[in-house]
Amino acid sequence: MTRAISLHQVSKSYTRGVRVVERLSLDIRPGEFLVLLGPSGCGKSTVLRMIAGLESATEGEVRLDGEDAGDLPPSERDMAMVFQNFALYPSMTGRDNIGFPLRIETPGEDPRPRVDATARMLGIEDLLDRFPHQLSGGERQRVAMGRAIARHPSAFLMDEPLSNLDAKLRNHLRAEIASLTRELGVTTVYVTHDQAEALSLGDRVAVLRGGVLQQVGTPRTVYALPANVFVAAFIGTPRINLLRGLVRAPLDGAMSISLGKQYLPLREPWSVDQRLLRVQQGREVIVGLRSEAVRLAKPSEARPGEVAISGLVEHVEFQGHEVLVHFNTGSRPAVVPDLEAPRPVRPVRRRRREGSLLDRLRDRRAGLRAGPVVDLDDPADAGAGRDGEMPPEGRLPGDLVVRTTPDFDLRHGMQVPLLVDLAHLFVFDQHGERICPAPARLPDLDE
Ligand SMILES: Nc1ncnc2c1ncn2[C@@H]1O[C@H](COP(=O)(O)OP(=O)(O)O)[C@@H](O)[C@H]1O
Ligand SMILES: [Mg+2]
Repeated sequence: MTRAISLHQVSKSYTRGVRVVERLSLDIRPGEFLVLLGPSGCGKSTVLRMIAGLESATEGEVRLDGEDAGDLPPSERDMAMVFQNFALYPSMTGRDNIGFPLRIETPGEDPRPRVDATARMLGIEDLLDRFPHQLSGGERQRVAMGRAIARHPSAFLMDEPLSNLDAKLRNHLRAEIASLTRELGVTTVYVTHDQAEALSLGDRVAVLRGGVLQQVGTPRTVYALPANVFVAAFIGTPRINLLRGLVRAPLDGAMSISLGKQYLPLREPWSVDQRLLRVQQGREVIVGLRSEAVRLAKPSEARPGEVAISGLVEHVEFQGHEVLVHFNTGSRPAVVPDLEAPRPVRPVRRRRREGSLLDRLRDRRAGLRAGPVVDLDDPADAGAGRDGEMPPEGRLPGDLVVRTTPDFDLRHGMQVPLLVDLAHLFVFDQHGERICPAPARLPDLDE
């Protein structure tokens, strides 16, 4: 049996008035592999614990197969959890660790056949007689996984199960988890802060920021049609280039997006998206360019839809199969707060009784977004973070990172011609919401 899990307007406060999860609604289909993705502290574990019944929701409902599970204790939810820190009983062998929950759930029944079948499935037969201290991290996590699987639960809840492992092992186990859960067809909710893990594992990915759901969609959708700047910046490596631009669309002339010292001309015939962009005339926007939207080539090599700019090489990152080139194009990068970890949560403002409808809507919007997804107020924030904080990532010089083959001999200080593919251009408004490609027009890619 596998189950549908849904969250309906679920909020959670540990401290009165401070919501760490904010009106979260999410429907997880039976057999689906859903990944909860977000920076540390954004409320992922809290959501998972509410699904498990280890925490109760402050508001809203957790439903299992359509029934409110509010009063159902964890033991009656028939779900198995796997945690980051393995949590094996140190004084029990692998076999006993896997068999222990079975003995409790079905006393009098011999757990061995199930333990053996599970061990075969995971390829850990030879580890069954060892104690946890005699196992490596990866082996311990396999045993922990075995303990979850052997129970034949109706859902798996996994909280960063691979975070304590080294990169190679993590990739290996990631593939194993994906094939195992698909084979078992059991609903899985998987928590991670690692976007690559989320994209490779999930049927769908739900992106959380400061306890607020930003977007839920297939990996392709959240990558190719991010709802806002936060999702765009959180997903994908190298991180998307986000540049502050200004839309120029005089009534009589051609349209362009100014990027400080250079500009992207948008020539006719305009796409529907580009025509919609006209209403942003004179407004500041954020231009998003994933590294695949820019290539190193001369203006004469431009294909239809590509426009020429140039960049000064600031830094070259050799990666073996490819090279990441950091250019200075004379534009200002947009700063997206909360990418690494949310700011400390501020208590929710008590709603004023006498407040106007507009005030309440404003409060609501602010609450839903958990603060702006982009900082455009302070022109000085482009380089360093605000309030003297460190910038969100160890910023390397340059405002545009482009991926290329290692064939080019690029050195610091070279001026290089670039072509920008307008078909891959994202434009976000001042609040960080995507306006290009226009949200309403495009259906979800795989749904
Ligand atoms: N038991 C608790 N009591 C008080 N605050 C908590 C508790 N558990 C988590 N929090 C707070 O709730 C927020 C979300 O935490 P958590 O769900 O663990 O985030 P994540 O798993 O995304 O890192 C954090 O600010 C954290 O400090
Ligand atoms: Mg957590």
